[in-house]
Amino acid sequence: MTTPVTTSAPSDGTLEVTARRKRMLTGDRPTGKLHLGHFVGSVENRIRLQEEYEAFFIIADLHMLTTKNTRADIDQVSTNARDMVLDQLSAGIDPEKATFYLQSAIPEVSELNTLFQNLVTVPRLERVPSLKDMARAAGKDEMPYGLLGYPVLQAADILCVKGDVVPVGKDNHAHVEVTREIARRFNNLYGEVFPIPELVISEITTLVGTDGQAKMSKSLGNTILLSDDADTVRRKVRGMYTDPNRVRADIPGTVEGNPVFLYHDAFNTDRDEVADLKERYRAGRVGDVEVKEKLAAAVNTFLEPMRDRRATYESRPGYVDEIIVDGTERTRVEVKAVVAEVKKAMGITGTYNQLRRKAEQARKRRGE
Ligand code: TRP
Repeated sequence: MTTPVTTSAPSDGTLEVTARRKRMLTGDRPTGKLHLGHFVGSVENRIRLQEEYEAFFIIADLHMLTTKNTRADIDQVSTNARDMVLDQLSAGIDPEKATFYLQSAIPEVSELNTLFQNLVTVPRLERVPSLKDMARAAGKDEMPYGLLGYPVLQAADILCVKGDVVPVGKDNHAHVEVTREIARRFNNLYGEVFPIPELVISEITTLVGTDGQAKMSKSLGNTILLSDDADTVRRKVRGMYTDPNRVRADIPGTVEGNPVFLYHDAFNTDRDEVADLKERYRAGRVGDVEVKEKLAAAVNTFLEPMRDRRATYESRPGYVDEIIVDGTERTRVEVKAVVAEVKKAMGITGTYNQLRRKAEQARKRRGE
């Protein structure tokens, strides 16, 4: 397990144990299982970045509440959290390197959120485009107060562990910008407490859905899950959208923008096979059935190592729960220290200390 405060010795043997390894903080709302779109959009990047940074992954259930807050939604969180963490571990996130934590179990994050609410204006938040999109997608015709504050809570997440880098997709870029503004504003008002976190653009590719829609997404029902078994993958691939003009195998087809070939490019490591299929597709010399069978095989080859790791993790009951609980405890220690530093810098700690001292003196004078 990673220790809360890691010191790193550079591999070249020079002694530099005082430097803290840079911290990365990212995560998701616990809304369900992860799919291939999540993999190419973020998980793949996280697997790479965990080598370079001390990695924190938030399970942002308080953020989920900004659009989904029924009792039924909340009752799903522990299952969804477990699924999401298991998906990421199966995909290659190393539980020895990464720290997963549940946002709502660290109340000091909410405390920080309250303090940060005074460092940003309403018009500034109203200019964050993703919030309007989220409100619309959730069917709200008026902006919930909590949703307007979404980026502020996210700033609390990032800064409560003094995150240095934040890899997120496009929707979240503006949120990280708000975090940077809050960190700067805090430092200006109260002294240098926070690093100014850097945005790492993580969405290198957006994967189209199996139905050809621009994005793979659970709500559109066009996903292939990282946890799908081989038969499910074959069935889903067989049903994929391809070139609609190609009603027969001998009609030349379009490769560009064709989901089946976009997936071949993303997941089939046999480049010669892909090149051959494309050539024959363009020439009308291959049927969709063959293209899809080869794609299903490639996707299954891609998912196979994840299935192996999943089986290992699943054979240890309670393992994922322990990962989350241990990570949450470890993170809470860190957050408590940061929030204490924040309140000290702001003078809030002093306020109560003064009152306490006077109260103490009064009690003493009365001989109590
Ligand atoms: N906003 C992220 C999402 O779209 C989840 C999240 C919450 C997050 N807090 C974060 C991401 C902090 C990065 C850093 O689901």
